[in-house]
Formats: sequence, C-alpha cells, structure tokens
Amino acid sequence: MKILVTGGAGYIGSHTCVELLNAGFELVVIDDFSNSKPTVIEKIKTITGKDFSFYEMDYLNRSLLEKIFKENEIGAVINFAGYKAVGESVEKPIDYYINNVSGALVLLDTMKKYGVKKFVFSSSATVYGEPKKIPLTEDCHVGETTNPYGTTKLFIEQILKDIYRSDSTWDIAILRYFNPVGAHESGLIGEDPEGIPNNLMPYITKVASHELEKLSIFGNDYDTKDGTGVRDYIHVVDLAKGHVLALNKLDKEEKGLFVYNLGTGKGYSVLDIVKTYEKVNNVEIPYQITERRKGDIAIYYADPTKAKEELGFVASKTLDDMCQDAYRFASKK
Ligand code: UFG
Repeated sequence: MKILVTGGAGYIGSHTCVELLNAGFELVVIDDFSNSKPTVIEKIKTITGKDFSFYEMDYLNRSLLEKIFKENEIGAVINFAGYKAVGESVEKPIDYYINNVSGALVLLDTMKKYGVKKFVFSSSATVYGEPKKIPLTEDCHVGETTNPYGTTKLFIEQILKDIYRSDSTWDIAILRYFNPVGAHESGLIGEDPEGIPNNLMPYITKVASHELEKLSIFGNDYDTKDGTGVRDYIHVVDLAKGHVLALNKLDKEEKGLFVYNLGTGKGYSVLDIVKTYEKVNNVEIPYQITERRKGDIAIYYADPTKAKEELGFVASKTLDDMCQDAYRFASKK
C-alpha cells in the first residue's frame, strides 16, 4: 500500500515526505510546482536515499488523478496541495475556493470511487478565528475566519465531518497547524517563498541574508509581555513527524474522524524570535516598530495535550533549532 501525497514538493509536504520515507512508507507524490521547485523532489531523494513515484500535475485534474489510483495501490492520502497566502486570498477568493475546496472535493470523490478512505488533512489553527480562550484546545469553537484562505480550511473540515457522518468507514485526521518554521537540518529543503515573504520567519531570514533591509514589527502595544504578538512556532520537522503519527493512528482498527492541534504549547513573541535568531546565528536583524497588521491577534498558542495522549506527539525541537535551521537553509541556497 502506498501513500499519495498531494503538494509533496511544498514546504510542509516535502518535510513530511522525508519523514514518511524514513519511517518506511512507500509514496506516490504529486505537485504542479505552482509554489515549489522541481529540484525539491531530488533533494527529498538525496536526504532519504529512497525513491518514489512522482507526477507533475494539478490535483484538480481528475483524469490524471484516476490514472494514479489505477496504476498504484493507494492506501491513504495526505493532502498538502492548496494555496496558502492569507493576503492573496482576500484579493483572489474565487481562485482560493476553487483550488482548495474543489481540489479537496475532486480528491475525496476519486478516493471514494477507488475505495480509499484514509485521509490526512492539512488544516490550520486559523479555523479557531478570534480565540475565546488560550491555550486553544480542539473543542474550542471554530468559525468567524477572517480571510478566504482560513475559510477554505474551515469549509474542508466541515466537508470531512459530513463525509464521515454519511459513512463511518472513512478514517480521517484533521491536523491544525500552528506556525510552522525552520527547515530540515541538512539545509537542503526549507521554506522558499517567492517575492517578499508575508510570514515572520522567512522575512527575518531575508533580512539576515541582506536581501531585505529591515523587519517591520507589526505593533508593540498588544497585551503581551513585550507588546508584540505571541505565536506557537513549531519546527517543520516536528510537524512532519506528526503526520507519520497520524497515519499510524489511521492504520489502527478503530475508525473515526480525529482532530489534533499540532503545536508546541509554548508562545513566543516577535521580539523573542528576533533576539533568538540574532543570538544563535550571530547576525543582526534591524527592525522598526510599525502599525498593527489588520486581522492579527495578540496571542495564539495550542494546548497540544490531545495529540500527545492519542498520537504520542511531542515537539522536541527548540526555538534555537528553528532559527538555526531556517538560516542554514537560506545560507546554503
Ligand atoms: N509579524 C511581524 N512582521 C512581519 C511578519 C509577521 O511583526 O513581517 C508578526 C505578526 O504580526 C504576528 C507574528 O509575527 O504577530 C507571526 O506572523 P506570521 O505572519 O508569521 O503568522 P500568523 O500567525 O499571522 O499566521 C500563520 C500562518 C497562517 C495561519 C495562521 C494561524 O501564516 O497561514 O498562522 O495559525 F493561518
């Protein structure tokens, strides 16, 4: 039985492919390289010393998808394909709903046709919207997402719940990621956004490597220890390992729809990140304090207890590792 990974050349997808191959899974990977590079596929093979089938294709291409299900014995699907830029999603909602929601539907419908009912979905902590309490547990209210990207994640979660309700032989894991950062310790794969990054860690990395002049810190008047926003940063390799554990859970007899937060349970401020990055990499990160970014929330972090108890998931990498690995990847490029 093989695992079909959609979006396997992307940031989280590529790290997960490495961990799945290391754990002995056989893979079929697809990606259309709309936000990733073909060289990543070779790098996954270099890191692991293992081979897998790869198809360059859009996951909305139903006939090609069917060909993959016919040619391979697929046992489960992990869906990383999808657009993920919050700001862009506000500008191009139709593109986001088509790519993310229709893509997931095409995939799920094809799975149903071929009798494959194990599905791991890349969701996001953004589905919690403005938190009513911190830390966030999986039973916290979801909804009131503030942008189409977040709403696509919410809609797909609802679709999965409806599918499971209609047929309880499906086995589904919804993984709500907090803030994935860092890179593989080899420095071969990592986060490589096109243009000016929206997210904190890639932005800092471009300042460290002098591609950008200085960081703008979006507000220092939040009700947090130093006034800057607090997030739950999780090393992408820890996050990737969470997918292996989720698949193992789906391989057990008991069927179900399971929802897990993947975070560390620790909140770090923007200034914590800047200081740690400077210290561990021996670089300077010039910054200025600017206005708050619209839609930002002061404090967001996970209660990771459920993933620990039910999956055995514990994020083991530190903030030092996250900052060091992010910089190593950028320096090697
Ligand atoms: N920040 C800055 N300057 C920057 C970029 C970010 O100060 O140039 C601050 C933000 O204000 C925030 C923190 O750094 O306080 C983290 O911001 P990111 O953009 O890195 O991450 P977000 O928490 O805003 O969003 C991330 C993902 C979303 C996901 C969300 C929910 O980008 O896809 O987490 O967990 F939906």
